[in-house]
Amino acid sequence: MTTTTLGVVQEWPQRPVTAHRRDAGEDESRGANGADWDRYADEYQATHGEFLGDVGFLWGPEGLTEAAARILGPLTDRDVLEVGSGAGQCSRWIRSEGGRAFGLDLSHRQLQHSRRIDEMTGVAVPSVRGTATHLPFADASFDVVFSSFGALQFVADIDVAVAETARVLRPGGRFAFSITHPTRWMFPDDPGEEGLVASQSYWDRTPYVEVDDETGATSYVEHHRTLGDWVGLLAGHGFRLTTLLEPEWPDGNDRLWGGWSGVRGRLTPGTAIFGADLATGTKVPTCGPGRDLTGDQ
Ligand SMILES: C[S@@+](CC[C@H](N)C(=O)[O-])C[C@H]1O[C@@H](n2cnc3c(N)ncnc32)[C@H](O)[C@@H]1O
Repeated sequence: MTTTTLGVVQEWPQRPVTAHRRDAGEDESRGANGADWDRYADEYQATHGEFLGDVGFLWGPEGLTEAAARILGPLTDRDVLEVGSGAGQCSRWIRSEGGRAFGLDLSHRQLQHSRRIDEMTGVAVPSVRGTATHLPFADASFDVVFSSFGALQFVADIDVAVAETARVLRPGGRFAFSITHPTRWMFPDDPGEEGLVASQSYWDRTPYVEVDDETGATSYVEHHRTLGDWVGLLAGHGFRLTTLLEPEWPDGNDRLWGGWSGVRGRLTPGTAIFGADLATGTKVPTCGPGRDLTGDQ
């Protein structure tokens, strides 16, 4: 237990957990992950905040910036929504580029950090607490929706989350997101040599679930979709995929970030970044029957 600069007592390091691969639905995933990010937020910002930059847009641990990649397209005077905005670093950078960026995040504590950095930098990101599967915005409100390692791998109802994104985007709008590269699900989440030996099926979509050893409560859930699943999801909701970036690990980056490291990053991709445009003039289905991507039949 540590007392933080925000004056609230946070519970970290994490209590002992046991990892499973088993089904987990949307309510269970959201309940576990919201509480997990509330517990983890102080540690996360203390560890990664400097690398992220208070007004900085990184797509992942490799360090690829939006300033270099330009996946989102023009930002000046655009209405932009960041889903899973955390402490708002990316959205703050967009504001500094002339875009009207807004944040949405599940974690109250992450949003408190966002407010803290707003005040420190003088660049404020109006933000709301919510979830990717139920965006509290009117249809066609945004020109760009994006997520940098935000909500998408934490939701079970991914079909609903992509449908919600299509709903709040204007026709022709841009959707871009980064996630753990789907091929990483074949390997143990270990930044060393052990993390280079494939031991799990790439096609096994069963969620990764951590359970608190003491209480038996689900404490964390992540969801896997293959590259083909993502292509199908985007196409099924009226998006035209234009970009799939798999950033290489750059020389000089000796950072360890969970399972991301130079040891693995020089051989296998750790991050996948998708960019897609919403079709214009097409009636886009909202949440259709979709396919079951969680492995549930
Ligand atoms: C790895 S952080 C990414 C934030 C920021 N881009 C960064 O790099 O720090 C993931 C964020 O997604 C949020 N999140 C998880 N599940 C979510 C959901 N269902 N809806 C919205 N946000 C969610 C978490 O609270 C957390 O702040």
